[in-house]
This record gives sequence, C-alpha cells and structure tokens, in this order.
Amino acid sequence: MLRTPKVLIIDDEPLMRMSISDALKSEGFSVKETGLGKEGITLFRDYSFDVVITDLRLPDLDGIEVLKACKRYSPDTMVILITAHGSVDTAVEAMKYGAYDYITKPFSMDEMLLMVKRLIRYKDLEEENFLLKEQVEGRYNFSGIIGQSERMKELFENVKTVSHTDSTVLILGESGTGKELVANAIHYNSPRKNEPFVKISCAALPETLLEAELFGYEKGAFTGAVKQKKGRFELANKGTFFLDEIGEISQTIQVKLLRVLQEKKIDRLGGTETLSVDVRIICATQRDLKKEVQKGTFREDLYYRLNVVPVTLPSLRERQGDIMLLANHFLKYFAEQHKKTIKGFSIEAMELLLKYNFPGNVRELENAVERAVVMGKTEEIQPWDLPEEITNMGDCFKVIQNMQNYEHLSKAIKDFERQYITKVLEETKGNKSLAAKLLGVSRKTLWEKCKILEIVKDAG
Ligand SMILES: Nc1ncnc2c1ncn2[C@@H]1O[C@H](COP(=O)(O)OP(=O)(O)OP(=O)(O)O)[C@@H](O)[C@H]1O
Ligand SMILES: [Mg+2]
Repeated sequence: MLRTPKVLIIDDEPLMRMSISDALKSEGFSVKETGLGKEGITLFRDYSFDVVITDLRLPDLDGIEVLKACKRYSPDTMVILITAHGSVDTAVEAMKYGAYDYITKPFSMDEMLLMVKRLIRYKDLEEENFLLKEQVEGRYNFSGIIGQSERMKELFENVKTVSHTDSTVLILGESGTGKELVANAIHYNSPRKNEPFVKISCAALPETLLEAELFGYEKGAFTGAVKQKKGRFELANKGTFFLDEIGEISQTIQVKLLRVLQEKKIDRLGGTETLSVDVRIICATQRDLKKEVQKGTFREDLYYRLNVVPVTLPSLRERQGDIMLLANHFLKYFAEQHKKTIKGFSIEAMELLLKYNFPGNVRELENAVERAVVMGKTEEIQPWDLPEEITNMGDCFKVIQNMQNYEHLSKAIKDFERQYITKVLEETKGNKSLAAKLLGVSRKTLWEKCKILEIVKDAG
C-alpha cells in the first residue's frame, strides 16, 4: 500500500461498527465511525476518505442518499453498502449510483477486509497509473528504452558507461526483452554515432550466404558472384557492427569471426588482399552461450572475445513494476498511430496485465496493446480487448471436450453455465464486478445466475 488508507464506517449497530473498525485498524487502516447518515455526510465533506462503508438502512437517512451525497462531495471516495438479506435488489440498484460493491449480512470480517483491501489496491493502481502517464516521456526513457525498475536503472547506467568505450558488448536476454534497442542505444550514444551502424541477423541466412554477407566477395568467387561485393564488416568500418542472434552461427563462421576479432582484418571470399577494419562489435543472443560452450557447440575462445562486457536484459516478469509504464507508453503511441481516443486501461484490464507472466516479454505486451487499441470500442481498454492468453479464459471451453454422456440440451447448458461461471469467479478471485464484465452480463444477472445454478462460491 502506498499510504495509510482512510475508511469511514456509517452503521447504527455499535457492535457491527466496532467489529469492522477493529478488523480494519488491525491491518493498519485509519478509521472514523458514526451511527448517523447525516453525521457521515458532514464527515466526508470535511475529511477525505478512500472508502466509505455504509449500512443501507440508517435511522435518519437511507444508505442510497448517503451514497449520492458522497458521490457529489467526494467523487473519488469509493462506497461499499451493507445490506440485509431481503434488500439485495436495492443494493444492485445502488450500483447504478456509483456504489463500488455491496456485502450482505451476515458476513465475516475476512470478507469485509478482502473487499476493502481490493478497493484500496484499485485506488493505488489508478493513482500510480496516472503518475506513470506523466512520467513516461521523462526520466524513465533512455534512448527509447522505457523502464523505472531497479534492474532497468542499473542497465541504463551500464549502457551509458559502455557506450563511451570501444569494448565488445554481448547483450543477453530472452526474446522480446529489448536487445536490439540496447544495441541501438549503445551505438547512438557512442563516439561512433555519426559513423555507420550496420546490423545483421545471423539466424536469418544459411551459412554460405551469411559468410558472403559478412566478409564480401570478389567477382567470380562462386557461381552467381557476378561482381565484387563489400561485406558488412567493411561497410561498418569506423562505425559499429551489430551481430544479432550470434548463438546461431556455424563452427566455420565462428573460426572466421574469431580471426576478425583478433586481427581486425578480413578477407573477401575469393580475394587475395587482406583488408584492415576498425569496427566496434556488439552481439546479441537469447541463448545461454555459456551452456553452448559447455555443450561444445560454441567455441570457448570466441565466447571470451565476445563476452568482454556482458549486458543482461531482465525479463518483463522480473520487472513487474515496468508493465504499466510500458503499457501506457505503447497505448499513447498506438492511439496516435491509429487515430483513436483511448485514454487508458480499465482497472480490470490493468489487473490482468499485472497478473500475466509475459513469456514474449515487451514485444508481447506491445502487440497486445496495439491489438487492444485497434479493437477497443470505448475510451478505456477493457479485459475483452486483450488477447486470450492474458485474460486466460480460453480453457473454459475445455468443459465441452470433457463431457462424457449425452444429456438433454437444457441440462447440458446449465452444467456448462455453472462450470463456466464458477471458473470465471475463480479466475477473478471472487471479484464479481470483473467476473460480470468478462462474462458480458450485468452484476444483477450474474447474481441471479449464481442463485439459479446454485453456485454458492462468492455468489454475493
Ligand atoms: N524497455 C523497452 N522500452 C520500450 N520498448 C521496448 C523495450 N523493450 C523492448 N521494447 C520493444 O519491444 C520490441 C522487441 O524489442 P527487441 O526487438 O529489441 O527485442 P529482442 O530482445 O531483440 O527480441 P528477439 O530476441 O526476439 O530478437 C520492440 O518493438 C521494442 O521497441
Ligand atoms: Mg532481436
């Protein structure tokens, strides 16, 4: 939690007030309480609260009036209603006036705590998100590389230091973590920045072609060599040469590369003349090169030549704190590109992004946001605008595959509905608002379905 959350409890039953108050205080919350609606209104007019918990039935006012007043005087405060069993419909009605959630008596203090904590987390996320939007263009952007986590700050420092030198750099990291961006940053912050920056992906070409590309060839060196061609090492002279996917090169090329690194000289294929080159080398790979050396697939001497300064990029799951920073950065970029007015992410969408482990790292996040911007129909990105891997609802359909006997359609549908809703409620950890949104139904419908289908768990 970013600060001490402040809660106001309005309930005329002293015992209830005390129990909630004690539960919240034991978690470090700051709490005020009153038994009257009018006094409650005065309190949230004079002080600011993160959350107001109010009974629906009060001696002087009804909870809906308190809710309306709260939304008027303090729109950022979130309201939870306490309802008796018979008044659930009124509570559902109250959601329309902006209540965040309701809880039905009798409830356990754990339930209440969970609800308030989730709410505070929402508020923190919203605030954090607002700040991130402001900062994304500023100090968390180094040569187009976005990050504010400790790992990234460290990386920025290393990249700055190494940029000023001529050392060979080996960039390591999973796919999509930004290795190419780092290579760019090193070159464009180096004294060689006005000289050529030449790139090659070693995985993209078969061995012979790669060799010809790297070292060039003389006319007639092989069938098809109709004229002389300069190799990329030559083209990169005085500048930087970025060899991407270095882990993919064959043993033959490894030997040749080693020679260039040791002697700073190249021979064009079929040529007689040896050329001197002055090139700064940057390599990248998603492979664990050390392991490749142990396995004998990568030459140890070449490994040490390349691994002068290793720069390792953290995966996105190792820097969770950067997810929303990056997501907002991409949102702004793609909204402009696709000319859409999308202001941000809904809380539910944010929660899903923060929960996901991004095997494809930043690239996957970037693609997900672009898709969401293109698909999005509202001013906020919603859970259903995100890819299925992230919402993790795809396996619900396995229910159908697992069915064993043929049954009447109406029963099968009911069974499916029950399993599907239960699964979504599990996925959303009992968050009924999110579950209803993901299912595309109102909270009231969800509540009714839970009742009809006898889904007890978190049915509210
Ligand atoms: N820190 C970051 N800030 C902003 N954009 C990023 C960052 N990291 C990666 N990206 C973006 O993510 C995409 C993938 O980055 P990049 O191509 O550099 O990854 P990579 O590590 O080279 O991946 P691969 O191993 O698959 O080639 C690019 O569009 C890049 O602009
Ligand atoms: Mg790459």
